[in-house]
Amino acid sequence: MVSHRFSAILLLSIVVAVMLASVGAPPPQPSSKCQRKCGNVEIPYPFGLSSGLPDNCAISGFNLTCKKIGNGVYKPFYTNVEVSNISLQKAQARLLNAISSFCYNTTDTTMHYNNWSLNLTGTPYSFSDTSNKFTVIGCQALAYIQDDDSGNTGRFMSGCVAMCRDGKVTTLTNGSCSGIGCCQTAIPKGLQYYSVSFDNNFNTSAIYTVSPCNFAVLMDSSDFTFLTTYVTSLDFNKTDDGQAPVVMDWGIGNKTCQTARQDPDTYACVGKSECFDSPSGNGYFCNCFKGFQGNPYLQDPEFGCKDIDECKGHPNCSVNANCKNFPGGYECICGSVLIVLILFLGKERIKHKRHIARQEHARKINECFEHNGGQLLIDMMKVESNISFKLYTREEVELATNNFDDSAIIGEGGQGTVYIGQNLDPDNNPVAIKRCKGFDESRRMDFGKELLILSRVNHENIVKLLGCSLQFDVPVLVYEYVPNRTLHYLIYSHDTKDIRTLGIRLKIATKSAEALAYLHSLNHPILHGDVKSANILLAPDLSPKVSDFGCSMITSTVENIQVVKGTLGYLDPEYLLKFELTDKSDVYSFGVLLLELLTRKKVISKEKECLALVFQEALKKGKHHELLDSEIIVDDQDNMDVVHQIADVAARCLVMPAEHRPTMREVAEELKLLEGVVKQRPGVLFNSDRLLMVPERSVTNTPEFYSGGQTTDFDSLKKKARMSIEFVR
Ligand SMILES: *[C@@H]1O[C@H](CO)[C@@H](O)[C@H](O)[C@H]1NC(C)=O
Ligand SMILES: *[C@@H]1O[C@H](CO)[C@@H](O)[C@H](O)[C@H]1NC(C)=O
Ligand SMILES: *[C@@H]1O[C@H](CO)[C@@H](O)[C@H](O)[C@H]1NC(C)=O
Ligand SMILES: *[C@@H]1O[C@H](CO)[C@@H](O)[C@H](O)[C@H]1NC(C)=O
Ligand SMILES: *[C@@H]1O[C@H](CO)[C@@H](O)[C@H](O)[C@H]1NC(C)=O
Ligand SMILES: *[C@@H]1O[C@H](CO)[C@@H](O)[C@H](O)[C@H]1NC(C)=O
Ligand SMILES: *[C@@H]1O[C@H](CO)[C@@H](O)[C@H](O)[C@H]1NC(C)=O
Ligand SMILES: *[C@@H]1O[C@H](CO)[C@@H](O)[C@H](O)[C@H]1NC(C)=O
Ligand SMILES: *[C@@H]1O[C@H](CO)[C@@H](O)[C@H](O)[C@H]1NC(C)=O
Ligand SMILES: *[C@@H]1O[C@H](CO)[C@@H](O)[C@H](O)[C@H]1NC(C)=O
Ligand SMILES: *[C@@H]1O[C@H](CO)[C@@H](O)[C@H](O)[C@H]1NC(C)=O
Ligand SMILES: *[C@@H]1O[C@H](CO)[C@@H](O)[C@H](O)[C@H]1NC(C)=O
Repeated sequence: MVSHRFSAILLLSIVVAVMLASVGAPPPQPSSKCQRKCGNVEIPYPFGLSSGLPDNCAISGFNLTCKKIGNGVYKPFYTNVEVSNISLQKAQARLLNAISSFCYNTTDTTMHYNNWSLNLTGTPYSFSDTSNKFTVIGCQALAYIQDDDSGNTGRFMSGCVAMCRDGKVTTLTNGSCSGIGCCQTAIPKGLQYYSVSFDNNFNTSAIYTVSPCNFAVLMDSSDFTFLTTYVTSLDFNKTDDGQAPVVMDWGIGNKTCQTARQDPDTYACVGKSECFDSPSGNGYFCNCFKGFQGNPYLQDPEFGCKDIDECKGHPNCSVNANCKNFPGGYECICGSVLIVLILFLGKERIKHKRHIARQEHARKINECFEHNGGQLLIDMMKVESNISFKLYTREEVELATNNFDDSAIIGEGGQGTVYIGQNLDPDNNPVAIKRCKGFDESRRMDFGKELLILSRVNHENIVKLLGCSLQFDVPVLVYEYVPNRTLHYLIYSHDTKDIRTLGIRLKIATKSAEALAYLHSLNHPILHGDVKSANILLAPDLSPKVSDFGCSMITSTVENIQVVKGTLGYLDPEYLLKFELTDKSDVYSFGVLLLELLTRKKVISKEKECLALVFQEALKKGKHHELLDSEIIVDDQDNMDVVHQIADVAARCLVMPAEHRPTMREVAEELKLLEGVVKQRPGVLFNSDRLLMVPERSVTNTPEFYSGGQTTDFDSLKKKARMSIEFVR
């Protein structure tokens, strides 16, 4: 008992010491004269209004203007964007984002667009990737969202297609935003620039009588329920006067807590507050300690972090007991009982609370598990006893990734974020842990079934799925870790060119093709849907491992496809037009990948031209030779015939209509044959006899794939497809 008291005193002195240590020269505080309200909206420090006289009302970058927008109505604005709410605790603000539209005008019979962009680079704001979705509405709509590409540093671009099958608005359903009339897609973390554009070929000129406009906006997805009238009228634009709420994460400065603390002159967390790194990766924010509330950016004893008097309002102590408040908490005492007893009771209380918290946690985990189809998965795993697939607990995954710490991130994409995980694998190898995003709620129950299909995938050139955790609100997948770079890096880096000989390129292409052919050949075929060089990982021996098909849709029937996913530049135009992902869509993307290997050109150039298109044009003119990578031309002069054969394979992968393309299996076999040819004469002079091994077809003779023998249907399809891609970016 005495030791309890002793440890309490010890603890107290530690707390005091820590508190003293953290007191430095505090940053300047705002004047109490600052206006803290604009219309109905509270403007808490670090935010402030720049119209107010004192000039230190806001931390730099957080000033807003209070504008009069009607008779007596005032609203706060960040530049020209209205701010509707500010949350200090979550470090978020809600802005009203303009809805972009693309409407048919019956007067001049053209499409009128109203694009919108928002440049928040260098400001405290970034679009929250967890709350917002890029939302596109229409019966024949394709809209793109992209980040700033002015300095050619843009790294994100995505599109979303909303269609009505056969243009019939009767297929629409209220409440369901899953590709039919409405499409939503996730954005990456930390996005600070936003611009929208519409694809001209997905327009309403043929259906304007039933659907006049397409709309697109990045908005808070929790605030959105699809209504069929959004497609058939201008209602969507009218709900918030042409605007939709978007959630912004904000952060102070551009440093992490750890570095920001070292500069007490600017460190903004004061009083009884602690610091958190902003989830967007830009700066940090502050919260009051537990048991305190108020504004963590203010030193002021009245408005800063203050102890919560838990005894006021809803004390939890039993009837004939008193409640005693203390800084950071409270306890129940029974009159004049010994202090030892107080300590004892306090401890029991904490124990009890912890117990309740644990129970709550366990209940939540169980719920997530059921929700994610976990029981189904377990049942099915019992039937297939020899499956080597592991279900990880939430704790295991959190421990392995240090609670999904930013420093553990090794990859980031539209599909999800990949973390490196330690100590999960029995052999102590690191693993790659992928946290999916943009999860389609309506397919949650299918998830267990899909995982089972994925777990059966077993191919040396496919990243192995080791297991998953269903105890999170989004699926978390655990893969084998492939330490080296991606094929994308290999192609575009300026590293030593030894690793880019034709032989190695061809080996990588062949093995990747074999892996895709394997996926297509399974009993329950898996369509990859996002074949690209960045999704081909390379093991230390440069053997490829196809990755990134876990979060994407696994299909048994094409009807399942409702949302176009994939990467522009690799996307099969026919998939965009027909809305059907087939094995031939993967073949198309693989064709683009072959072109990348041969030309080392970006799939979408600075001039916004598609590599696939540029190549096809050049091929028609017999000038595709000029596109080839100079490294190959110089170093593999003797293999030029093979290079042309590969170009021929690539060309056939890109053919319209899709059914004329070879299968992945055929592609793999042709490449394997060519690989043999190269291998047998590394750097040795060309031997014409060997040519007989490869099918006799010269590239310049292939235009029949592009012009000859096509019906007008194909022609128009091809033209449409070409145009829809040409305008991309
Ligand atoms: C914030 O204040 C600076 C300097 O007074 C001004 O240039 C800027 O336009 C203000 N920003 C907003 C959003 O009002
Ligand atoms: C701002 O958000 C808070 C919490 O979500 C809510 O209680 C409050 O009513 C909102 N204020 C306005 C003006 O929308
Ligand atoms: C349609 O176009 C005409 C001419 O460009 C323009 O005057 C008119 O305002 C447009 N109508 C709508 C509804 O945008
Ligand atoms: C966005 O703003 C940043 C910083 O102000 C600027 O460097 C960049 O050029 C802007 N981008 C565009 C497209 O205007
Ligand atoms: C969807 O809801 C809107 C508004 O409640 C209603 O006008 C419309 O008829 C509904 N559509 C269908 C297909 O039920
Ligand atoms: C707006 O979108 C249209 C159609 O997508 C495009 O042609 C135009 O260049 C865009 N304008 C701007 C300023 O981005
Ligand atoms: C609408 O798209 C079609 C192709 O889908 C195109 O032929 C037509 O020119 C477009 N109309 C307008 C007004 O841009
Ligand atoms: C959407 O609403 C805004 C604001 O009321 C208006 O300026 C704009 O013209 C509307 N757009 C369409 C396509 O109706
Ligand atoms: C961080 O912010 C400071 C001051 O606002 C600025 O000078 C610096 O360039 C910023 N650093 C980065 C990496 O953005
Ligand atoms: C009071 O106790 C109940 C159950 O023990 C708990 O659910 C509730 O949150 C407690 N209230 C406060 C204010 O601590
Ligand atoms: C499961 O066992 C069967 C028969 O022993 C074997 O053919 C199959 O390859 C095994 N599957 C796995 C994933 O080990
Ligand atoms: C692959 O990784 C290993 C170990 O990190 C490294 O030694 C090797 O150079 C890498 N190879 C390539 C091609 O990057």
